[in-house]
Amino acid sequence: MSASTADLLGLAGKHLLRNYKQPPLVMTRGEGCWLYDTEGKRYLDLYGGIAVCALGHAHPAIARAVSEQAARLVHIANYFYNDQQVRLAAELARRTGLERVFFCNSGAEANEAALKLARRYHHNRGDAERVNVVATWGSFHGRTMGAVAMTGKKAYWEGFGHRLPNVSHVAYGDLDAMARRVNDQTAAVIIEPVQGEGGVLPAPEGYLAGLRALCDKVGALLIVDEIQTGVGRSGRFLAIEHAGVKPDIVSLAKGLAGGVPIGAMVCKEQFADTLPPGSHGSTFGGNPFAAAAALAVLETLDSAALLDHVTATGAYFVAQLSALAQKHATVCEGARGVGLLCGLALKPGQDPQAVLKTLRDRGVLIATAGDRVLRFAPPLIITKAELDEGLAALDAVLATLKPVAP
Ligand SMILES: Cc1ncc(COP(=O)(O)O)c(C=O)c1O
Repeated sequence: MSASTADLLGLAGKHLLRNYKQPPLVMTRGEGCWLYDTEGKRYLDLYGGIAVCALGHAHPAIARAVSEQAARLVHIANYFYNDQQVRLAAELARRTGLERVFFCNSGAEANEAALKLARRYHHNRGDAERVNVVATWGSFHGRTMGAVAMTGKKAYWEGFGHRLPNVSHVAYGDLDAMARRVNDQTAAVIIEPVQGEGGVLPAPEGYLAGLRALCDKVGALLIVDEIQTGVGRSGRFLAIEHAGVKPDIVSLAKGLAGGVPIGAMVCKEQFADTLPPGSHGSTFGGNPFAAAAALAVLETLDSAALLDHVTATGAYFVAQLSALAQKHATVCEGARGVGLLCGLALKPGQDPQAVLKTLRDRGVLIATAGDRVLRFAPPLIITKAELDEGLAALDAVLATLKPVAP
């Protein structure tokens, strides 16, 4: 017999760490862009498990791949090659134009690997003191001690003792500030092509190319964090492609295996031997189960022409969000986005969490970002009709907000 909602909430209250702030809802099932809770209520998923569920829920390609792989081989650790991981590495190399891949299990781990690779690269060249990393305020790079040190929000550092030294931050989008900070002691610059958690902020025109030039000038590595923006979310495989810039290192996770945990650090051929055996590794990273799921996602990106779909539906969605922002101009500031990573900024004084909650009560799930941005990262397979359902609910909720006097 399945447990009741009350039983499950009781167990959660008793046994889960209280590091999240969940509403009293228990999800049990998903299908496409829809989620179902224990009471059978359905929700339109416009946040995609925070930009993870690229193919939505219960996609047959992933279901088939993981069930077949589970019946064949789930895990062997990296003592041996495995067929799925090797094929996935080749696919990532082909799609990113970067040759070498290290697999792990999450975004934070991919950024940790990038940080270690950058420092080790300079060490191997006899420049062991060259350890400085420059990141940006408002960025999000993960929660482990290295990744959180690069994350540009003090609230995420507080209470955990000394932060990893030699990591500093400058304003996002400000090339002059970066030029003043980057020098021949800089090991790497890390950047998101669109700041996701920071408020869905696309890099200004010329910024990413400017960072590439700055790094080249002093011999620093350019790490591009595509954990939220990668794997087609922007309408290209990598969002950095829009800027025509080739990074030294790219970190991927989230959408890569459509919800099965995986992370990847992808880098140029010249770093193939930078982390010698024993210097870095992962027990689970790139196991056949996760790699098979990722291969299914990548194959579906092609077979369903999802990049074109994202470009078209993303342009439609952001235009409709902008129209809503104009219609409700007393409470909205404006809309922005790249592909299907979109944000609607509310005016100061508005509470994005209240909007999120009211939308949820109406059966539409979104996320928030920055201080007052409604964030949308729906499955890449979402249809215009489904987006329209979400937009209608948003229209109705925005209509209930009261303007706040400045
Ligand atoms: C840009 C970016 N980098 C890194 C991370 C961390 O990824 P994870 O939570 O898988 O460790 C996230 C997660 O939101 C992210 O958006």
